[in-house]
Amino acid sequence: QVPNIKLNNGVDIPQLGLGVFQTPVGQTTVDAVRAALQAGYRHIDTARIYQNEESVGQGIRESGVKRRDIFLTTKLWNDDIRAGRTREAFNESLDRLGLDYVDLYLIHWPAQGWEKAWEQMVELYRERRVRAIGVCNFEQHHLEDLMAISDVRPAVNQIESSPQFTNQELIDFSNGKRIDVEAWSPLGGTGGSLLGNPALKRIGDRHGKSPAQVVIRWHLQRGVIVIPKSIHEERIRQNLDVFDFELSDAEIDEISALNTGKRNGADPDNFDF
Ligand code: A2P
Repeated sequence: QVPNIKLNNGVDIPQLGLGVFQTPVGQTTVDAVRAALQAGYRHIDTARIYQNEESVGQGIRESGVKRRDIFLTTKLWNDDIRAGRTREAFNESLDRLGLDYVDLYLIHWPAQGWEKAWEQMVELYRERRVRAIGVCNFEQHHLEDLMAISDVRPAVNQIESSPQFTNQELIDFSNGKRIDVEAWSPLGGTGGSLLGNPALKRIGDRHGKSPAQVVIRWHLQRGVIVIPKSIHEERIRQNLDVFDFELSDAEIDEISALNTGKRNGADPDNFDF
């Protein structure tokens, strides 16, 4: 049901997945992951720092969906980047997940020492312990630095993007380098007011869809990979139900015009974690 995108190394990724940032550790995550997979999701996005890798692994096992049919992403945390312990951190993530490979391994932030971490991730990729490697929160200059030191290009750049902060220039730059973009905080994040926006409501009413579904559709039609988070089964299902309608170019433009240029999350050029 969810279309795949072919990454620059030929690996297929489902364009819509479940994100589990700020999904509470334990049963909540297990239930969300299992519900998503049983509803038809085949792509789950976690990270070491979310502290829920164990629960994600459990949700995958409880779902009954075959491992090879699932696209699973996790990420290398900043402390491990700074400490130069990529391989150790990767093995620890696999242990917590209870898996023997991941589909996509990402550098979580351009922390001090990421260049060395990238080399170590390339080794893991060449050993086929991960099917694709990439980065998160890389600005254009980080991508340029990376491409200057490595002949392996990131498959994806996962960055903040939503109608509030479209980040369109960085998306265009990444795509121009054949790096696919994944949007984090695609619905404007927790506690955001985006989904209450009247324009989204009006467009949604026109299509018989919710504001969240409109925003997810906006990402998909821009060619972006989107990983909305929810802990509610009804919303998890709703967020997947976005393949039976299409936004017009004018609607896409109207949604893009909500851009304030202000981030919800941290600035990749100035973060302190
Ligand atoms: P909840 O987990 O309580 O459903 P983002 O993916 O941008 O980080 O945003 C996720 C936020 O949007 C979460 O607070 C999530 O809350 C909420 N959310 C997810 N899906 C929907 C939906 N279909 N309708 C309304 N809110 C949603």
